[in-house]
Order: sequence, then structure tokens, then C-alpha cells
Amino acid sequence: SKAEAMQGYNDDLVMSYSIALWVRDTALRIQKDKNSQQRMIMDSMLKNRKRPEPCTLAIFGASGDLTQRKLSPALWYLNQQNLLPSSFAVVGVARRNFNDESFRLHIGSALKKFVKKVDESLLQNFLKKFYFVRGEPNDPDTYKRLKERLIALDQQEGTLGNRCFYCSVPPHIYISIVKQLGDSKLNIENVDQQGWSRIIVEKPFGHDYNSACNLNKTLLKVFEEKQIYRIDHYLGKETVQNILVFRLANSIFEPLWNRRYIDHVQITAAETVGVEHRASYYDSSGALRDMIQNHLLQIMCVVAMEPPSVFDSHNVRLEKLKVLNAIHPFDLSNLDRFAVRGQYSQRENGTTPSNGYLQEPGVPKDSRTETFAALRFTIENWRWKDVPFFLRTGKRLPNRSSAITMQFHQPPHLVFKHGNDLSPSTLTIRIQPEEGISLSFNGKIPGPDIQLGKVGMDFSYENTFGGRTPDAYETLLLDCLQGDSTLYADRLWIEKSWELLTPIIEAWQAPNSGLIPEYPTNTWGPTESDNLMEKEWRKWAII
Ligand code: BG6
Repeated sequence: SKAEAMQGYNDDLVMSYSIALWVRDTALRIQKDKNSQQRMIMDSMLKNRKRPEPCTLAIFGASGDLTQRKLSPALWYLNQQNLLPSSFAVVGVARRNFNDESFRLHIGSALKKFVKKVDESLLQNFLKKFYFVRGEPNDPDTYKRLKERLIALDQQEGTLGNRCFYCSVPPHIYISIVKQLGDSKLNIENVDQQGWSRIIVEKPFGHDYNSACNLNKTLLKVFEEKQIYRIDHYLGKETVQNILVFRLANSIFEPLWNRRYIDHVQITAAETVGVEHRASYYDSSGALRDMIQNHLLQIMCVVAMEPPSVFDSHNVRLEKLKVLNAIHPFDLSNLDRFAVRGQYSQRENGTTPSNGYLQEPGVPKDSRTETFAALRFTIENWRWKDVPFFLRTGKRLPNRSSAITMQFHQPPHLVFKHGNDLSPSTLTIRIQPEEGISLSFNGKIPGPDIQLGKVGMDFSYENTFGGRTPDAYETLLLDCLQGDSTLYADRLWIEKSWELLTPIIEAWQAPNSGLIPEYPTNTWGPTESDNLMEKEWRKWAII
């Protein structure tokens, strides 16, 4: 300790201690300098980024949770970075009895709750951008009032007739909003040579293949594909975007990205939360529809796709679709070999007892909805033949963490005595909570013998760039306002993903599909999930 060292018993100790301090302080200073350099680069990038054209964002369902937790904070941060259009307005549309004033108060208190530091005078200025139109989503009068408001704002704020409509409402309302927007001609672009119109549709986009196709048909009767933005917030997460940069802006990883080097890929999105207050939605959805059909399959496509010739909407979407088209359909007669489901149950021996899914408020006592799902996909192409992709997600698991783990093949021949228990090398892309990328491989433990141990190289967003990582909604909202749909899902992708998964959903829902396996809360899903891996001599990674 410092005290012992300073008592001067041992000069060497004092010297080592001082050197250790110097090394630590220098490392910290270098890291700090690096962080501030990185921040300067990021700040100058932001300054140079073109702001979107003047426009109005109309949010249907503006009194709801998503607007409070995600959309308003995203707009706040964009505004802080000077990335909103110079003329910009937000019009909330909802049934709630708000006017402009009370809507602003509502948004103001959400921002105080969900944004770290809110300066009061900046807040008041920001809230002036918010307006409210009250109305039922299926009432033509709502759209009449909305249209009048939008036209008035074009004059008052200079928003030039550019409109983005955000559907943040329960999915059964999407179709009437789309039809009403069409009937009131709010879908039409280039009236008097100006004005674009775009629509953002939240997930869930359909609940099976037919409903997704129907929703697409309705949308396409009113809007053109280029006007439609189907949001999947996982695509806006920094690390998900970084997968492509990591692969394609370096020449060292892409050569390894194939069946020759990779044994299998795991994609996990684990949550500690349960169904919370969302039982009415979640019970008719389940983990497969809620997380796998969209978020996890999207990530899988980003990992597995061929390099596009250009990073743009057309090419990226095309390559992602090719991955889905190459997926081998599930063998329904042997479904348990490819698909596992589970439902969390009350934990009896835990320190803090927690509800099982069936005890959650609003969940029917005989519900067979899965809160956990794990699937094994095979992609039939030259790059991935025989490389399984395992996707799993669940609620009430031990950690909140999402990650992609790519496990490399073992070396073809082991030359070391202690090599039999070699751990496989892995590349882990951490999506959350600590975004980063780590490579884990075997190294020699210092000493006279050759003893092998697992060592790692780590890139962490926080240590490298410091500061705040933008939320996915910031990225996606900005992209839509700029007319860039690269990180949005397209029609064919959505339909294909439902086509692949609907047979599993139907098989699980069939009355003769057996009991749903249970897993105690705070564990990694039912034992069937481990079996899915273990029967192939594989294991889920610890994330
Ligand atoms: C949503 C799901 O799309 O994603 C939720 O409906 C889930 O059930 C959420 O909790 C997870 O998102 P994130 O960004 O917290 O991982």
C-alpha cells in the first residue's frame, strides 16, 4: 500500500509505486487526449452534416409512450446538435384532450424525465416547435383539421409543404390512418412544385404473412414505396451500423467472414424486464413476432449479407433480401430441432420472488404465448453453407445484453500438450449495453511451460469516443427527414421474413402443439434451448 511504501521500509517499493502511479496517470492522460480528439472529430463531422429541408413531423399517437420515451428525446438531441431543419414543427395527433399549451407541458415533463440534462430556457424554446391536433384516427374531420394546421404552419414556420407522418399507434389503427391520409390528399407530393410526403410505420408490421402483405397493399395504394419508411429501431443502433464498417472498411476481417473460418454465429437479445404493462399487445405477439421477425433477423441479414457495391438504400436492401431468400425453410415435421420456445415461470428459490408470465397483470391464466424463442437458421449459399445462425431472445433473463458472437473453427491440428481444452476463438459484437467489439483468442500464459489461456482485444465505444452514443431513434428520424431509407425495412424483406416464420407461429399455436416449456425467471431460458446447441457440441456464449 502507499502507506507502507512511504514509510520508507523499502526503497524499491517506493520506486515501483511511483512508477506505477506515473504509468497509470500517463495512460489516463493519453486516453483523455484521445477521447477529446475523437470528440473534436465527431463535433466537426456534425457541423458539416447537411440539415434536412424544412418540414413538419406529424405524430399519430403523440400522447403515448413512444413519443415520451423515444421520439421527443430523439428530437431534443437532434436539436441540440443543430441537426433539425432550420424551419421545423411537430404536430401531435391523438384522442387526448390536449391543446398546444398542455401538449407542450406533457412533452416538457417527458423530456425532463428521459433526457439527462435539460436547460430550462432551451427547453421552452424547443417546446415552441410543438403543436397539437385532437381527434380520432378514423374520423375524416381529424384529417381536415390536421391539413389546415399543416398549411398554416407552412406559412407561419416556413415548412414548405414537406410532411412526415409517424404512425405510433396500435397496429390495428395503421390502415385507417393510411386511408384517411390518402382521402385527404396528404399523401400527394409536389403540389405547386414543392412538398414531399413520407410515412413512418412502427413495428409490428403485420402479425403474420397475410396481414403484412395486406398492410403493404394498403400502404402502396396510397403512398409510393419511396415514401414509406418501415422502422426497425435495431437498425439505427450504432453497433449494428458498425458491423458493415467493421467488415468493409478494413481488409482484415472480411476474408474471415465465411464458412472457411466461422463455425457458427449466435445472435442474442436478452432482457431482464418482463412483459410490464404491455400484456394486451405482448400476449397476442410473443417473442418470435416481437423480436425475431424484425430486430434479430435484420441483424442476421446485416451480418450475413454480401458487401453491397455502394452503401445506399437500394443496394443494402437488395443484399439483405438475398440472405432471406437463401434461408432454408424450416422442416415442420422436425421443428423441435430448429425452434425452441419458453415462458418464464414464477421463481421459487430466488432471493427476490418475481411473477411468472401467467401471474403478470393482464395475461390470461392459460396463455401459451412464448416469452423466449431460440431458432437455428441455415443460409444456403457459398459463403454460409453449413454455418448455422442461432438467434435467441427472451424476457426475464439474467442480463440485459444484446450481442453477436461469431465462433471460429478450432485449428485443424493441435500441437500443444494442453491444447485439447482449447477454447474456440470468438468475435463478439456487443450491441448493448456497452457497445463494442471484442476478439477473444488463446494466448500463452507467462511462465516456463506452454500453458494456454483465453486473452482478448477490446474496442469499446465509450472508452474510444467518450460521451453519449446517439439513440437509434435519433439516427432513424434524421435519416427519414433526409429521405434516406437505407436503415429502414423494405416491403419484400418484411413479406419474406413473415413467410419464413409464419409456419412456425402456426405450428406453435396449433392445439396439439404440446405444453410450452417453462424457465424460471432470471435463467437463460428452458433447457431445450441449451439442448439445441449441445446436440451439435456447441454452447451458447456467455454475454
Ligand atoms: C421492442 C419490443 O421492439 O424492442 C420490446 O417490442 C423490447 O418488447 C424492445 O423490449 C427492446 O428494445 P431495446 O432497444 O431496449 O433492446
